[in-house]
Amino acid sequence: MKNILVTGANGQLGNEMRRIALKGGCQFYFTDAKELDITDQQAIMQYMQLHPVDTVVNCAAYTNVDKAEDEPETADLINHIAVEHLAEACLALDATLFHISTDYVFKGDLNIPCVEEQPTHPLGVYGATKLAGEQSIQKIGCKHLIFRTAWLYSSFGANFVKTMKRLTAENESLQVVFDQVGTPTYAADLADVIYELLMADNYNNHQGIYHFSNEGVCSWYDFAVEIAALCGNSCAIAPCHSNEFPSKVTRPPFSVLDKTKIKQTFGLVIPHWKASLKECILQLHES
Ligand SMILES: NC(=O)c1ccc[n+]([C@@H]2O[C@H](COP(=O)([O-])OP(=O)(O)OC[C@H]3O[C@@H](n4cnc5c(N)ncnc54)[C@H](OP(=O)(O)O)[C@@H]3O)[C@@H](O)[C@H]2O)c1
Repeated sequence: MKNILVTGANGQLGNEMRRIALKGGCQFYFTDAKELDITDQQAIMQYMQLHPVDTVVNCAAYTNVDKAEDEPETADLINHIAVEHLAEACLALDATLFHISTDYVFKGDLNIPCVEEQPTHPLGVYGATKLAGEQSIQKIGCKHLIFRTAWLYSSFGANFVKTMKRLTAENESLQVVFDQVGTPTYAADLADVIYELLMADNYNNHQGIYHFSNEGVCSWYDFAVEIAALCGNSCAIAPCHSNEFPSKVTRPPFSVLDKTKIKQTFGLVIPHWKASLKECILQLHES
């Protein structure tokens, strides 16, 4: 049976990993900063020497895109330096690192889906630190799979779906940007893929970077309209431009991820974003 260390297990993806782990088949060790602070190199080595870990699934990250502009050192410490520590420990102990990265490594100005080999060009601190994390793993050379994902949401934690569910219930009208286009990702679907790969146990033959989101394409405006409809909220949602919501960071205008590589390599069928959104809203209503 595989022994899997999950870091950042109290986040959106970490919680979805906890849920899917109930299916069994692997021994999971779930940790968040309290149990294992990934910025502490010595603690990582000690933990991995104490527990017989084959694979680390790193769900820990600094994910506040706007705040990262004010706290670049902290973002870099968690998204880059700590990932370096994890990669070094994996190399030393012959473990595999599953790492999660982001569409924000791209500039998103091409209007065609981003493939894995496309040149990167992060527009802000968050994207730059996530890219530095990816590059550290590649430089250190431990066994690894890096999953770049986008617009992650879940019934756990704070995210766009939960915010829009609330705002469209509380307001009669709302403006949402329509000039940023991408694909939402239900964290449960990403956790499902990670779990299936762990169970299939041939992932070391397929190391590298993979793009994963749900199927389809939408703007944040389209996403918000669908959330309101599924929640039965009659709020009037109007499209607006990003410059009407001034932010310290420019987001990629078109960061749709091309998933051909992950689908062909692992034979995946990925749900459409609308189908997965429905699942999440049902989950939210039940909980
Ligand atoms: N959210 C998105 O829209 C999105 C989009 C693309 C890619 N991603 C990537 O997907 C992955 C999962 O994202 P997510 O949304 O699940 O993140 P999340 O909900 O913010 O969870 C991250 C978790 O990491 C923990 N953490 C922070 N610093 C830590 C440390 N030093 N040691 C151990 N744990 C630490 C956090 O704890 P605290 O809450 O206590 O800080 C939190 O529980 C990340 O790599 C993220 O970059 C996310």
